[in-house]
Formats: sequence, C-alpha cells, structure tokens
Amino acid sequence: MSDRQTTDTNAAWGGRFSEATDAFVAEFTASIGFDQRLYRHDIAGSIAHATMLTEVGVLSADEGRAIVDGLKAVQADIEAGQLQWSVALEDVHMNVEAALTAKIGAVGKKLHTGRSRNDQIATDIRLYLREAIDGLGGELKRLQRGLIELAAQQADTIMPGFTHLQTAQPVTFGHHLLAWNEMLQRDAERLLDCRKRVNILPLGAAALAGTTYPINRARTAELLGFDRPTENSLDSVSDRDFAIEFTHVGALLMMHLSRMSEELVLWTSAQFDFINLPDRFCTGSSIMPQKKNPDVPELVRGKTGRVYGHLMGLLTLMKSQPLAYNKDNQEDKEPLFDTVDTLAGSLRAFADMVPHLEPKKDQMRAAALRGYSTATDLADYLVKKGMAFRDAHEVVGKSVAYGLQTKKDLSEMSLDELKTFSDTIGEDVFDVLTLEGSVAARDHIGGTAPHQVREAAQRALVRLNA
Ligand code: ARG
Repeated sequence: MSDRQTTDTNAAWGGRFSEATDAFVAEFTASIGFDQRLYRHDIAGSIAHATMLTEVGVLSADEGRAIVDGLKAVQADIEAGQLQWSVALEDVHMNVEAALTAKIGAVGKKLHTGRSRNDQIATDIRLYLREAIDGLGGELKRLQRGLIELAAQQADTIMPGFTHLQTAQPVTFGHHLLAWNEMLQRDAERLLDCRKRVNILPLGAAALAGTTYPINRARTAELLGFDRPTENSLDSVSDRDFAIEFTHVGALLMMHLSRMSEELVLWTSAQFDFINLPDRFCTGSSIMPQKKNPDVPELVRGKTGRVYGHLMGLLTLMKSQPLAYNKDNQEDKEPLFDTVDTLAGSLRAFADMVPHLEPKKDQMRAAALRGYSTATDLADYLVKKGMAFRDAHEVVGKSVAYGLQTKKDLSEMSLDELKTFSDTIGEDVFDVLTLEGSVAARDHIGGTAPHQVREAAQRALVRLNA
C-alpha cells in the first residue's frame, strides 16, 4: 500500500503507518464510548497546562489566550450537546483537541506541547476521582447525620441484641444505630485518607520520561488544586493504585451497607417485625397482593457484589504490568465509573431512607422478653452477692429451663419461684431482671445504657461536624 494511505482514523499519529487502521480494531481500541465522561476534567487539565505553558513562554500570550478561550467554547458546545463524539478520534483527549482546532485553527495543535495522552489520562482520572470522593463524602455524611439523630431519639428504645442471631442481651435501638455509624465513620476516614494519594499531579510526566520543555509542574499543580506534582514520571503514567485503593474503600463501604441492608430486610419481615419502612422505599408484588418488599436494602446488598468484582478486576488489570504506560490501563475506567455510580446511588438511597425508619417499639420489647435476654444479668447479680460465676451460671441455666417449661421470662417469675434455684436471690433481683435495669447497668463509654447512648450520639455529631 502507498504511504499516503493514512486516513482520518489515525490523523494524530498516522505518519509512520502505511495502511489505515482496521475498522473493527479502531472500534475495539477506542475509549470514547466511556471516557467522554471525563470531558470536564480533560478540559480543566488542558486549561491549566496551556496557562502554565504560556507563563513559562512556551506559548505566546495570544496563543495561550486563544487555546484557553477555545477550550471553554468546546466545553460549552459539549454541554449544549453540539459535539459529535468520533470513534475515529479514539478518546476524549483527541476529540477535544480536534474540536479545539476546528474552532480556533492550527494554533489548537500547540496545546499538546510538552505532554502526552499518558500523563493526560492519569491527570483526568485523578481530577475525576477527587471530585467523586468529595461528592460521596457529602452523601456519607448525610447518611451518618440521619443515623446519629435517629439514635439520639431512640436512646431508650429496647430491642434484643444478638450473637449468632440468637437473642443475647437487651440493647437499645439507638445503640445499634450508633454501631452502624461507627462502621461508616471509619469508611469516611478511609475515603479522606485515600484522597491524599489521589490529589497529586502526574501531568508533566509526558509519555514516560518527562519533557524537554521548561515546564513548571508546581504551577500546574497549584492551578488544578493538587497538593504537589508526582515524584517519578515512569510511576506517574503507569500506576493506578490510587483507583484500586478507592475501590477497596468502596468495597468496605458496600460491605457495611450490605450488613445494614441485611438487618433491615430481616427486621421488616413478619418474623421479626421490628421496623416499618415507609411505602415509598418499597415495592409490591404483581402476584401476591399482601407483599411489601424492602427493595432498597435488598438491592444495595446485591450491588455490593459488583464493587467487590471491580476491586478484583482492577487489581488483576494492574498485576504484572511492566513500566511504564500500557494500553491495559484503558480498562480502568468502566469499573471505576461503575464503582462511583454504585456508591453514589446506594448512599443516596440510604441517606434518604434512614431518617424515616419507624421502629415498632412494642415488638422489639416483646422480642427482648422472649429470649431470656437478662439471664446474664441474673448471673452477675449472684456473683455480686458472692457466688462463683460457674455456680451462678448453673443456677441461671436451671431458671431458664424452668421458664421454658412454664413459658415465663425471668422477670415474670415470683420471688418464691426464683428462690427455689438459690437462697441468695432477694427482692432487689427485679432491678436487674427488667429490660430497663439490664440496659441501664451497662453504664460506661461504649455501653448500651440510654444516657451513654445519648452522650455517644452527641460526641458522634461533634466529630461529624469537625
Ligand atoms: N485512552 C487511553 C487510556 O485510557 C489514553 C492514553 C492513551 N495513550 C496512548 N499512548 N495510547 O489509558
């Protein structure tokens, strides 16, 4: 084939090619179908780059101004739906550059001086992810605020606490909600910590080795709000560990949301019947008229799987890649975008729903009474009266066996009945056998006593607003 055979499919790099790209290969290797989502970040990066190039004298003031104004006009066109994305132009970078050149003429081609698509895409993803982290952090905060406020309102509401999903000891609903908040607080801290490693500027690494132009990377970093430029050009264009780290943080967050979801699904069932979810967060069944399904928590529980999958996918994508940039990395975007979208949707649904959880206090209380949840309190009572714990355990075990036979909770037995198991038991036993006595006795930081729960909620709110 003639060396004139290059077509517009490879206008940006076709010089050394003797035939046009196979049509399917062009489509197969193009990323514009998904990386168009990065247009704002790509343009912001380009504006900062052109500004810096102008300041150091690589571009003239006129050229710099034409490019910056042109980029803003291209952004306006995109936002007005007036830019036709072209697969032949491969990716968002070359689509934007072509649109710029179409708008301002040949000077548009000078934008790509001193950079490469390799450092450009690494910059775009970091800008995108930083913005995503800030948005997700806001939603997470809204969810936490809802949990903390509900917890403060429900500091006296008694429910059974479980181990092995068997009734263990009474707790307050507020205490349970604050447990959820602690999980989410760690997720929020991890998200912020991850942001530190995202917020570093790779631009200036160029293709892999740096550039011969007198660039000022610190200035570009400053213009884009990055903390500093990256230290090593080879590392800058190749590693996506920051995206993997973000997905890992997201996977943990989804794991926590899935645990909350699972409890909400259980609690809305007829068997538990602990809470009511307002109708607007549920759907019905087309065949069973009585059904009201907890779709939101079910779906969030299910969506956890795709985020775990993306984490594994990204780890595997990065595995064994030699330095520096490899095309493999183009595959980082779709899992990352889907992780962000899944987290955003799940957090939004939960933040909207949580303030409207309606506890069914009578049901919760009845369930706590059904499971001999104050048995440990009776044992502790006997120990405080001088009995060895082993013996106390035996006494309480016999009392529970008697309760099972006679269908009575420990607090429903008469003093005479209780005394048949041990003389040590006196009238004051009823202070500890009641549900209220039991929770009030766990009176220390981290315990379920209502006033401790109120104070914990207060501290959590202060920490949230810090
Ligand atoms: N679309 C590419 C990506 O997502 C951009 C960088 C391409 N660089 C290159 N030399 N082909 O990673």
